Amino acid sequence: MRRVILIGFMGAGKTSLGKKIANRMGIPFIDSDHEIEAHYNKSIGDIFTEKGESYFRTIETEYIEALDLRDDFVLATGGGMPCFGKNMELLNSIGTTFYLERSPKELAHRLYHSKTSRPLIAGLNESELLPFIEERLAQREEYYKDSAVILSRDEQTPQVIENFTDLLVHPLQKS
Ligand code: S3P
Repeated sequence: MRRVILIGFMGAGKTSLGKKIANRMGIPFIDSDHEIEAHYNKSIGDIFTEKGESYFRTIETEYIEALDLRDDFVLATGGGMPCFGKNMELLNSIGTTFYLERSPKELAHRLYHSKTSRPLIAGLNESELLPFIEERLAQREEYYKDSAVILSRDEQTPQVIENFTDLLVHPLQKS
C-alpha cells in the first residue's frame, strides 16, 4: 500500500504538491476539503458559517474514518484536521504522514492573496495575518510534528516523498 498523507498549515502547498506526487506515483489524489464540500454540497466557508467550526471538525474525523483503505492515494488534509481529537493518530495509522514545514512569514505571504476562501483568516487584514499564523502554528506544531516525516522547504518534492514512502512502507524489501 502506498498512502501518502500531507499535513501542514493553510497555504503550505499540500494540494499543489499532492497533485504532483499522485501524478508521479500513478495513484489517485484526494483533497479532504474538496471531498467534504462535494459531499455536503456546500463550501467550507458556508459549513463554518451555518454550523460552526466544531461541526466541521466532527465532519473531518468522520471523513478520515470513512476513507476507503483498499486504495492507494495521496491525501491533502485540511490545515486543522490533524490537531483535533485523535485525528493525527488516525492519520498515522493509515498512511505515511508528511509535515510540510513552512515559516510563518512564508505562509503569510502565500496566504495573503488566497485568504477569502478560508474562513479562519477571511476577516484578517495584512497586519493581522502574520501574528495570527504565528500563534496558531505554535499551537498546531506539536500535532504536525507527530508526522512520520518532517520536510523542510527544499525537501518538499514529489521525488523525495516517493522515496520516503517506499522506504517506510517496504523497509525489508530494500537492500
Ligand atoms: C483550515 C484549513 C483549511 C480548511 C478550513 C480550516 C484550518 O484547509 O480545512 O478552512 O483550520 O487550518 P487548507 O489547509 O487546505 O487551507
